[in-house]
Order: sequence, then C-alpha cells, then structure tokens
Amino acid sequence: MEAGDEVPAIWKDDVREVLLGSADISARVRQLGKEISAAYGGLNPVMLPVLKGSYIFAADLSRSLEIPHEIQFLRARSYVGTESSGDVSISGLEGVDLRERHVIVVEDIVDTGLTLKCILKKIRALGAIDVRSCTLLQKDTNRRRSDVPPVDYIAFHVQDEFVVGYGLDYNQRFRHLPFIGILKPHA
Ligand code: IMP
Repeated sequence: MEAGDEVPAIWKDDVREVLLGSADISARVRQLGKEISAAYGGLNPVMLPVLKGSYIFAADLSRSLEIPHEIQFLRARSYVGTESSGDVSISGLEGVDLRERHVIVVEDIVDTGLTLKCILKKIRALGAIDVRSCTLLQKDTNRRRSDVPPVDYIAFHVQDEFVVGYGLDYNQRFRHLPFIGILKPHA
C-alpha cells in the first residue's frame, strides 16, 4: 500500500486519507535501520521506545538494525492542563542502568517537542554518555518549542494534521492500522 492509495473499505468510515502506506513505511524504516547501524557499530546502544505510540515502529526498527542492541520501554505522560510548564511524568526506567550507555530514544511523533525534551533531560541525568533521538514522524508545525533540540533520526515529516495508525492513536483507537492516515472530522 502506498500514499494516496484508496482507504481500505473497513476503515473508510473513519479515515479520510492514506498519508503513508505500509510499503513506504517499511522501506523507510529499513533504510533508517541501516543508517543507525552504520552510526552505532560496536557500541551496543540501548533503544528506549516511548509507549504506547512507538511500539510498532520500535519493533520494526529493532528488527532492521544490523548491530547488537538492547531495548527498554518507557512511558511518558503529560499532565493535562500543565503543558506549558513542561510537566511530563516519565516511568519505566526504575532499575534500568543507563550509566555509560549510548541511548536512542524512539518516539512516535514529535509535535511541540515537550515530551521529547523532558525524556532527553531525564536520560542524561541517569548518566548516559550519549543520548540521541529518533522519531517516526515529525510534524511541520509552528507549535514546536524553541528549546527542543533537533531530532537526530526522522523517518518522515508530516503536515500539521492529526494522524493515526502504525502505533498512533486517537483515544486509544486506530493504533493497529498498517498505514498512517488522517481521520475524518467525526471519527
Ligand atoms: P509533543 O510533546 O507535543 O511533541 O507530543 C508528543 C505526543 O503527543 C506524541 O508522543 C503522541 O503521543 C501525541 N501526539 C501528538 N500529535 C499526534 C498525532 O497527530 N496523532 C497521535 N498522537 C499525537
């Protein structure tokens, strides 16, 4: 399935458009896997996917890496109503030793960048010697905070619309779509 393909009948009521098809996604993820493998040879990095949104991307990216690596999942939650204060709670790293490690944080989508900024700060504080970021999608938006460092590995840039599928949800729905799409307004 490719971008612009017709939306499969079972999702036609909810999905307006296929933005990135499954074939486009898997080709790009394989390419990114090669790029990261070339950069991290001999370093045994720790991949840190951010749940839940990056679970499918992380599974595919991990299988496309041609180097030894470890994987640990973390969870990030923004406190409703306090976004501007930068209040993001991060869990899942209890008992995980990141000292002297090369870490790759794996996000589903970077929008304002607040979540990623808070995660990077926390990982650095845990003693990692090198922390880089990787995201499936980066939104082209003027909401991005100016204090967010540029993402090191970006699979795709997307327009400023709400997207679902390939791990990304709307109220916990649509994560399992094999493509990334834009919802219809009523969905
Ligand atoms: P940020 O902190 O504003 O960069 O937002 C990041 C988080 O918001 C992502 O990890 C997603 O969970 C969620 N998010 C932002 N935009 C979208 C979207 O278009 N679809 C689904 N989730 C989104």
